[in-house]
Amino acid sequence: MQDKAISIRELYAEPKERKDIIVEGWVRNNRNSGKVGFVTLHDGTCFKNLQIVYSADSPFFAEVAKYKMGSAVEFHGDLVLTPNMPQPFELHLSSAKLLGDVADDYPLQKKKTSFEFLRDEAYLRPRTNTFDAVFRVRSVLALGVHTFFQDRGFVYVHTPEITANDAEGAGQTFTVITNAKDPINDFYGRRASLTVSGQLHVEAFAMAFKDVYTFGPTFRAEKSNTPRHASEFWMIEPELAFADLDDDMECIESCIKFLIRWVMERCPDEMDFFERWIAPGVKTKLQHVLDTPFRKMEYTEGIRILQDAVKNGHKFDNNNIYWGMDLQSEHERYLTEQVVKGPLFLINYPKEIKAFYMRENDDGKTVAAVDLLVPGEGEIVGGSQREERYDILKAKMDKIGNTKGLEWYLNLRKYGGCIHSGFGIGFDRLLMYITGISNIRDTEPYPRTSSALKY
Ligand code: 4AD
Ligand code: MG
Repeated sequence: MQDKAISIRELYAEPKERKDIIVEGWVRNNRNSGKVGFVTLHDGTCFKNLQIVYSADSPFFAEVAKYKMGSAVEFHGDLVLTPNMPQPFELHLSSAKLLGDVADDYPLQKKKTSFEFLRDEAYLRPRTNTFDAVFRVRSVLALGVHTFFQDRGFVYVHTPEITANDAEGAGQTFTVITNAKDPINDFYGRRASLTVSGQLHVEAFAMAFKDVYTFGPTFRAEKSNTPRHASEFWMIEPELAFADLDDDMECIESCIKFLIRWVMERCPDEMDFFERWIAPGVKTKLQHVLDTPFRKMEYTEGIRILQDAVKNGHKFDNNNIYWGMDLQSEHERYLTEQVVKGPLFLINYPKEIKAFYMRENDDGKTVAAVDLLVPGEGEIVGGSQREERYDILKAKMDKIGNTKGLEWYLNLRKYGGCIHSGFGIGFDRLLMYITGISNIRDTEPYPRTSSALKY
């Protein structure tokens, strides 16, 4: 059977009078004054709705007046321009068909529902305004990622989800097993886990294609129950050969700016919605990011500033600031929100708190690492120049004991290695930042966090 309906998206793309059209979708709202009725129809093809008008004179008035919120419907009628109304046009109904009724226990009722409640009804929440906007922006943002890198000649690499290495060495892997009693002698004959990062695998491809990226799901068994941590999240991981930390930061900055612009241009209705209902000021914030060069600051300088802040009476939850500490979100946020008032590259961290693959600086104490910190959120990007010197890397890996199984990774330094750098953007965190949504659980279609796996 042919789908003869026209989409609401098409109607808005070319607003004009149209005779006898068919639309289909779901009822968002239905009210009537006894004389005339209005249905707000949503068909999912764009953020905007279509207003349907039906009059008491029509033979189907009583029937349509009963259509409940959420029901699937088909409407026929004439599209009429309404230059004096908030919406550009409306559909004057000539006939209607109820395609799918809604049972009385439908959880989404008119009253405003909380995000917590909707998380529990994750299979229904894409039907709400907020999640319609969030998940459409998520889709648009994903294309933006590919566009940015593909336009610049980066090759997209599908790195594996099942792996034998803990790329970050942080011990937060999920083990993959078919036989719980003997995971080592199981399917792969060695311990296998879900990937925490595609970086190591993608580095090998950078040594062949120069500029590459991977973009896919990653998994971390972090028990941190925060609004910013998920145990399954998407990461964008570019890797650039013949590039140092400055090249890395240049790429991060242009990528983030490109993606913000990409969404603002393509999703103006959604962004207006976030501005009005979710995070007032979010558009100004993003515009400010576009207009300002990102600042750079040494970790050591950051520590000094935080210590001064404490001396001057600023109270952090953790006031014990010392060189060598891993900064907490509150410290990162102080630097980006209070000091810099904008995005901040914090660079050259103590080597003890960063991953083994980062390049050691000449001071012997720090590594060429970079975190991009943003107001309201803290870290959204982590990257580094990679250790390209075989002996230094081997010594480090031997020390932490992860050489076995990663000989191939070391060999990259032996077989035509070169300086190279890369970074990882938390896709969900970036989406939080752009939409102003404050909990990562509300940016993922079916969020996974510890003790939460309903769907
Ligand atoms: O800083 P991370 O751990 O860096 C890496 O994984 C490197 N291999 C990246 C690279 O250089 N190729 O993670 C990168 C980003 C973080 O900045 C954060 O935005 C996001 O991934 N991230 C998380 N997002 C949601 N939930 C979590 N549990 C996350 N852990 C990291
Ligand atoms: Mg990090």
